[in-house]
Amino acid sequence: MAKLLVALCLGLLTLVTATAADELPRVVVYATGGTIAGKSNGGSSETTKYSAGQVTAQQLLDAVPEIANVSHVDAVQFTNLGSNRLNTSLVLELSKNISASLASDKYAGAVVTVGTDTLEEVAYFLDLTVDSPKPVVIVGAMRPTTALSADGPMNLLQAIRATVHPSSRSRGALVVLNDRIGSAYYTTKTNSRTLDTFKAIEQGYLGTFVDGGEPLYYFTPSRPTGRRFFNISALHILPKVDILYSYLDMDPMLLRLTVEHNGAKGIVIAGEGDGEADRTWLPEMVGLMARGVPVVTSTRTAAGTVGAGLNFGNGTASIPASTLNPPKAKILLQLALAQHPSDVSAVASAFKGV
Ligand SMILES: *[C@@H]1O[C@H](CO)[C@@H](O)[C@H](O)[C@H]1NC(C)=O
Ligand SMILES: *[C@@H]1O[C@H](CO)[C@@H](O)[C@H](O)[C@H]1NC(C)=O
Ligand SMILES: *[C@@H]1O[C@H](CO)[C@@H](O)[C@H](O)[C@H]1NC(C)=O
Ligand SMILES: *[C@@H]1O[C@H](CO)[C@@H](O)[C@H](O)[C@H]1NC(C)=O
Ligand SMILES: *[C@@H]1O[C@H](CO)[C@@H](O)[C@H](O)[C@H]1NC(C)=O
Repeated sequence: MAKLLVALCLGLLTLVTATAADELPRVVVYATGGTIAGKSNGGSSETTKYSAGQVTAQQLLDAVPEIANVSHVDAVQFTNLGSNRLNTSLVLELSKNISASLASDKYAGAVVTVGTDTLEEVAYFLDLTVDSPKPVVIVGAMRPTTALSADGPMNLLQAIRATVHPSSRSRGALVVLNDRIGSAYYTTKTNSRTLDTFKAIEQGYLGTFVDGGEPLYYFTPSRPTGRRFFNISALHILPKVDILYSYLDMDPMLLRLTVEHNGAKGIVIAGEGDGEADRTWLPEMVGLMARGVPVVTSTRTAAGTVGAGLNFGNGTASIPASTLNPPKAKILLQLALAQHPSDVSAVASAFKGV
């Protein structure tokens, strides 16, 4: 009798566990490489001399068995590269594939693992080009898998917890690292080495993780004020845009060379302060804008906005990048140029209110 009861209880337990597991949401993880998949031969204290993109998507997930209690996961090995080897053609394809996955009822959301060096560009791109209330969570790590206190496994678990949580919906793409949730639109890498590198200096974080890993949001869902959606379904390549860094003695000839010899269809200037450069640049900038080559002025400082000045940013010499740092301004300029080739005023409208 006792044996029968035990058997019955065990059976019931198996049934309950099975049902609970079946009810778990399903997430698709697009792995692109990066430090989160990195390995060093230099021992556990080596955190800088390592190779990115050595561990497969499935190995990454297998290293975090706790995920099995949170979500079913389908792993897609999109690339396995350091983020400095990605390009916007790959990110274009990544965005399309994520949109296709999210269109299916099968998935509650998508996670993207990516190297941290260009993570903010990939995240910003996905925020502008994926149109879904389902979460797209971008995650990386600052320490390779072989390091002491590697941050990748916990970051990945938290990314998956954030992806399946109902409060994460309708917030656009999110960045999860170091116990924090940030908006992909505003978050940037602020330190080349430390774990607490991803921040939005002006706008802050959207939330954190509590109670064994539940996301806690400080605000109800909303989108950044200037965020626009770009439909990229017909695009395979984006127009070339270069970024020029402004500094004392920089030659204005570089502006013309960038266009005439490097094929740039637009230029972003990482300007001094609120988007300025040497005044000798102005005639060259006005000339390029008049020829249908948009020049966008952003800032080389770590934070702040760039608005319209009397010369730089005045709409004739350049288009101000507002809150966008140079790499994000470059992504927006590429997407706007793809929609409106050589149309400086249409491009300027895309930058209004960003
Ligand atoms: C999954 O959850 C079960 C039930 O709470 C627990 O016994 C188990 O240890 C968990 N597994 C992991 C890997 O956290
Ligand atoms: C992305 O989707 C396209 C179209 O379905 C497919 O051909 C391609 O293999 C996918 N790319 C990756 C890396 O999964
Ligand atoms: C982007 O990178 C991929 C993979 O390395 C490469 O095949 C492709 O040619 C690159 N595209 C451009 C436009 O550079
Ligand atoms: C993007 O454009 C394509 C082709 O016009 C259309 O089929 C698709 O529905 C659009 N996607 C979104 C999200 O608007
Ligand atoms: C903007 O600045 C440029 C360069 O100084 C000047 O040529 C142009 O007239 C200015 N445009 C306006 C609208 O003030």
